[in-house]
Amino acid sequence: MSDSLNSSASRHPGRPKGAPRFPEGPQADPAGSHFERRIRSFQPRRSRVTAGQADALKRLWPKWGFDIDGGRVIDLGELFGNDNPVVLEIGFGMGEATAQMAAADPGTNILAVDVHTPGQGNLLNLADRGGLTNIRVGNGDAIILLREMLAPDALDGLRVFFPDPWPKKRHHKRRLIQPEFVSLAATRLRPGAILHCATDWEPYAEQMLEVLTAHPDFVNTQADGGFAPRPEFRPLTRFEGQGLDKGHVVNDLLFRRVPHTTSAQPPADA
Ligand SMILES: C[S@@+](CC[C@H](N)C(=O)[O-])C[C@H]1O[C@@H](n2cnc3c(N)ncnc32)[C@H](O)[C@@H]1O
Repeated sequence: MSDSLNSSASRHPGRPKGAPRFPEGPQADPAGSHFERRIRSFQPRRSRVTAGQADALKRLWPKWGFDIDGGRVIDLGELFGNDNPVVLEIGFGMGEATAQMAAADPGTNILAVDVHTPGQGNLLNLADRGGLTNIRVGNGDAIILLREMLAPDALDGLRVFFPDPWPKKRHHKRRLIQPEFVSLAATRLRPGAILHCATDWEPYAEQMLEVLTAHPDFVNTQADGGFAPRPEFRPLTRFEGQGLDKGHVVNDLLFRRVPHTTSAQPPADA
């Protein structure tokens, strides 16, 4: 018997047309931002959700998942049940690398965000099977999470592994790593936090290096100002494997959030 659940309502006689796929699970367009005139870094895709992923979404979403609805600032201590450092990962895909990193570092909380429903189910399953309690899964646009739902200095790190490369020139504006995004991320990263990016698309790697090097809130951890050697703690990701199969070169970038400048502090009499 097939393991897959098809998303088409007509093949789900029990679900009326227009009803949510997962009533207690991740919602489509949780922030209601579909009609917002904003360029997005992801391509909405309707993908097949396997029975195993659907089961994980049903069982575990109420416990470990949350919608990025832009409606509140998250209390991260409450979300994770402890005050351990929190690292945000944007775009975890199917979540294999995320789960491995969470298992290797149980003292760090991982806020893992993507819009991809099968990946959300997959990561919940991996966390459950691995007995990992330090992962929470956010559904929606990470920009809205950063902008509306995280307090200043909330994060101890940010990971962006193999973001969509948007190779066509007319799509470059959809790339995540741009000055505006880096400025927004900087406000949510405490001083000393590491922004770790990796990509197998060399022109994008060059863009990342240029944008991050020019940004006043970050400093390269590499004394020579270049790419970092691949850190041992970063597992091979699914997209990375596909890139390597095509002969692509992988580059890692590790930049540190610099201390707040005095000009960024509120005035003494405020
Ligand atoms: C090319 S995939 C890489 C996945 C994974 N990191 C890997 O290396 O296998 C990029 C992922 O980022 C997600 N993504 C892109 N922009 C996003 C955003 N603004 N908010 C949340 N997820 C995003 C996409 O849905 C996609 O799953």
